[in-house]
Amino acid sequence: MQTLAPKDWVRTPAPPSLTNDELHVWHAPLSGLPCKEEWLDEVERRRLARLSDQRAHDAFCANRTLLRRLLGDYLGCSPTAVSIAVNAQGRPQLIDGSLDFNLSHSGGHLLIAIAQGMKVGVDCEVPRPIRNLPAVARRMFGTGEFEQWQRTGATETGFFEAWTDLEARQKCLGEGLFARRVPPHDVGRHPFRSEAFIACLAWSPARQVQIRFLQLTV
Ligand SMILES: CC(C)(COP(=O)(O)OP(=O)(O)OC[C@H]1O[C@@H](n2cnc3c(N)ncnc32)[C@H](O)[C@@H]1OP(=O)(O)O)[C@@H](O)C(=O)NCCC(=O)NCCS
Repeated sequence: MQTLAPKDWVRTPAPPSLTNDELHVWHAPLSGLPCKEEWLDEVERRRLARLSDQRAHDAFCANRTLLRRLLGDYLGCSPTAVSIAVNAQGRPQLIDGSLDFNLSHSGGHLLIAIAQGMKVGVDCEVPRPIRNLPAVARRMFGTGEFEQWQRTGATETGFFEAWTDLEARQKCLGEGLFARRVPPHDVGRHPFRSEAFIACLAWSPARQVQIRFLQLTV
């Protein structure tokens, strides 16, 4: 697992160019992000209007604001011109498929992964105590994953490592968590962690890629 120090995130005012051999992973603390409701499309605005909890409302608005800002920069269009549709499993994606993206949020942290010419999935979790951890792990993991987790000490950290690996794979191929499980060797995977969270990136087709870890400065 790659451990990222704060200096390992490249701070930049705009996305660098993205090649077919690269994956870009953007990180932002949700609380520091602007909310531009006017950038959201009809579907997003309806979803926003249903969020009566203020924190959830602000978090969703902030995540779509950053997502649209980034995608607009990559595509050379305005944030409002970015056309996103949500598939039957709930996976948001660009209608024209010119880029693929996926996002994850946990404990106030947002990760957005962006790829060209491949599918991408990302998951992050801020570690927290879980009651009845063995029972939860047995329910959520497949037999192989559960046994591997037990062999490696059945720790909380190990749980979140295996969990983010599983979710990143499922999200990469757009399968929900409870759909067909994506075997580890079917996708490329890169587990990483920062001081605050444990995360994993998955991409398909599986091949060698260069991963760039980025933060927007403005
Ligand atoms: C996708 C899923 C694994 C996310 O789990 P999570 O750890 O709670 O949340 P994360 O923060 O990591 O990811 C959430 C983001 O994943 C994306 N997402 C949602 N469904 C997804 C899917 N099937 N595949 C890939 N990405 C998905 C969304 O962008 C979402 O963020 P948003 O709600 O702000 O748009 C989980 O919600 C799931 O299994 N959903 C599928 C449910 C389903 O099958 N529904 C079918 C009918 S809608």
